[in-house]
Amino acid sequence: MRLILIGPPGAGKGTQALSLTQTLGVPSISTGDLLREAVREGTALGQQAQAYMDAGELVPDQLVTSMVAERLQRPDCQKGFILDGFPRTIAQAEALASELARHQQRLDGVVSIVVSRAELVERLSGRRVCRECGAMYHERFDPPRTAGVCTRCQGPLYQRSDDNPETVNARLAVYERATAPLLSYYQSQGLLREIDGSGTPEEVFRQIMTVLTTSQSLPRP
Ligand code: AP5
Ligand code: MG
Ligand code: ZN
Repeated sequence: MRLILIGPPGAGKGTQALSLTQTLGVPSISTGDLLREAVREGTALGQQAQAYMDAGELVPDQLVTSMVAERLQRPDCQKGFILDGFPRTIAQAEALASELARHQQRLDGVVSIVVSRAELVERLSGRRVCRECGAMYHERFDPPRTAGVCTRCQGPLYQRSDDNPETVNARLAVYERATAPLLSYYQSQGLLREIDGSGTPEEVFRQIMTVLTTSQSLPRP
């Protein structure tokens, strides 16, 4: 199963990718997580990416597409993958298409998670992330058992530096400008499936699984 999750910041891409990866048995690849790791490790890529990420802007296509192409070469992607946060521009989508074509592979589906702007802002302002395992929590909607501590692995929770109101606004505007055009791009290829992302994480997950198992063009997971 080769799947793309598209949605604005805070739509729940990472939350759903974690559940999907367990159910479908394929890795989830978050370009945001890979870039944050590069920044943390101070690699050349991280140094180039940091200013864009701090401003809520997109990291240049060339940097991101070569990072993803390399990741897709790893053996764990042989049976498929879930892409979280990539592609985000038409140029990235075209680079992905030619990379897949080069390996005689194709996409099975693109799931767009739709959530209102007010809800997105609320979700991002309360988000906490585990530094060890990447699990996502929310101060109000999905609090950890102990404040500041990951329920799964006991790792420390932190707030992403781009989750401040100003950067959130910039990220939402970038989504509308650069990423939303991908919806009609994939719609015209018959790959797009829209999901109402406003319910609980479990409800959203059930909807995605229903779409994946009932879509005629998609293989059964
Ligand atoms: P990235 O890390 O991808 O950030 P994003 O797209 O802004 O999305 P988020 O991770 O903020 O949201 P999400 O949809 O994963 O939501 P989550 O599940 O956490 O990218 C960061 C930056 O990296 C970009 O700004 C850019 O600079 C760069 N970058 C990344 N990819 C790039 C690319 N392809 N090209 C160029 N640059 C790139 O959920 C959010 C919160 O809500 C959590 O607290 C969660 O617990 C809660 N929640 C989730 N689902 C629900 C629900 N159903 N109900 C209630 N609460 C929920
Ligand atoms: Mg995410
Ligand atoms: Zn953890």
